[in-house]
Amino acid sequence: MSSLVLTIRETLRYRGAIGQWSWVLHRITGLGVVLFLALHVLGVGMAFYAPGLWEKEIAVYQSPLFTIGEFALVACVIYHAYNGLRISIFDFNPRLWKHQKRAAYIVLAATVVTLVPVFALMFNHVLHFYETSPQVVGIPFIIETLLPYMIGGAVAVILAVVIAGVLGLFVKGGPQTVSAKHLDNKVERFWWSFMRISGVLIIPLVFGHLMGQHVIQGVFDITAIDKVVVGTSSVNLSGTATEYVAHRWNELVAGIAIWRAYDVALLALVVVHGFNGLRYVLTDYTMGSPLLRRASIVLTLGAGAGLLLFGAGALIGNIDQDAINMAVKTACELGRVVVGCEAVP
Ligand code: HEM
Ligand code: HEM
Repeated sequence: MSSLVLTIRETLRYRGAIGQWSWVLHRITGLGVVLFLALHVLGVGMAFYAPGLWEKEIAVYQSPLFTIGEFALVACVIYHAYNGLRISIFDFNPRLWKHQKRAAYIVLAATVVTLVPVFALMFNHVLHFYETSPQVVGIPFIIETLLPYMIGGAVAVILAVVIAGVLGLFVKGGPQTVSAKHLDNKVERFWWSFMRISGVLIIPLVFGHLMGQHVIQGVFDITAIDKVVVGTSSVNLSGTATEYVAHRWNELVAGIAIWRAYDVALLALVVVHGFNGLRYVLTDYTMGSPLLRRASIVLTLGAGAGLLLFGAGALIGNIDQDAINMAVKTACELGRVVVGCEAVP
């Protein structure tokens, strides 16, 4: 914890160097996206495991508070992607290092240039939604929906500390080299390369994903009635978020469920990259305590593996008509605008 305070103090004190600020921004944006990712994979997966919960989460996504968060999320993804690309190119080509400063400014400029049209298109979706069919939920509903996820997060942290404590009884000295900066160890060298290669592979996948959910259609179109679901030939007849995911995952092209295959690749790369990044951050700030350092590794490894299994389970599952009926029932109880309230007991 004292190393976290030291980092913040020294970052604020250290003036002028763009390299320092791009490091801070890269870290903050990476953390923001990984936190969203955990909530998001748990939410989308519920379309298969417990459709009512996915309907509630999408209602939260469509609230004004989260609309602001959505703009921040897109900005984080775009800056982190461009800056990550810069890091990857420069790290594999050390002779380019003399251009670092200019490259950091180019990353900032490219982020702004990309964000202007993207935000304009996203804002257009927001305006359209509030002009036509606002189904806005309040703060108490948001807290009630997100509380189980927050409690789950807190339990995971406590469990990680307990497991790390027990492991400490058997492992002498604990892990030594866990930071990305210590490349003297083969395993860490693998992760160093993995972060750069996976980052570059993630760019088209995550940009394509956001293009579908934010630009071509907006977050609000996930629950639009009688609208063709983006990237499919099917129409969302009920207007539930569960039917939307079902059409995406059931879309076949030449016998292949392309969006399932796409999401498998996205899930594997972003979860492993994001949770390993989280490990770098947590272990950097827990250097003074072997217990907390070990807990950081247990937490990121356990939570990352758990999220992968949960997301993969949903991706191979089948979202059928019964699941859509359950979603309709919850949406009707919430007073959301969907089709089929009378038909579902
Ligand atoms: C979009 C393409 C992406 C690229 C090109 C990229 C690239 C990178 C690179 C090069 C690093 C530095 C690794 C190191 O220091 O060894 C990094 C760190 C990180 N990335 Fe990404 N990344 C991308 C997407 C993501 C996503 C989707 C997430 C969240 C799920 C994420 C979360 C993180 C975190 C938490 C770190 C650690 C930051 C730190 O140590 O300060 N990244 N990324
Ligand atoms: C508010 C922004 C976002 C929305 C509305 C959204 C929406 C969705 C939807 C509807 C699905 C279901 C299937 C599909 O349509 O492909 C999905 C799946 C997925 N999304 Fe997103 N997405 C957003 C941002 C992101 C970001 C930034 C990431 C990566 C960091 C991401 C990673 C994933 C993954 C890994 C899956 C598969 C989940 C699983 O296996 O259960 N999404 N998303």
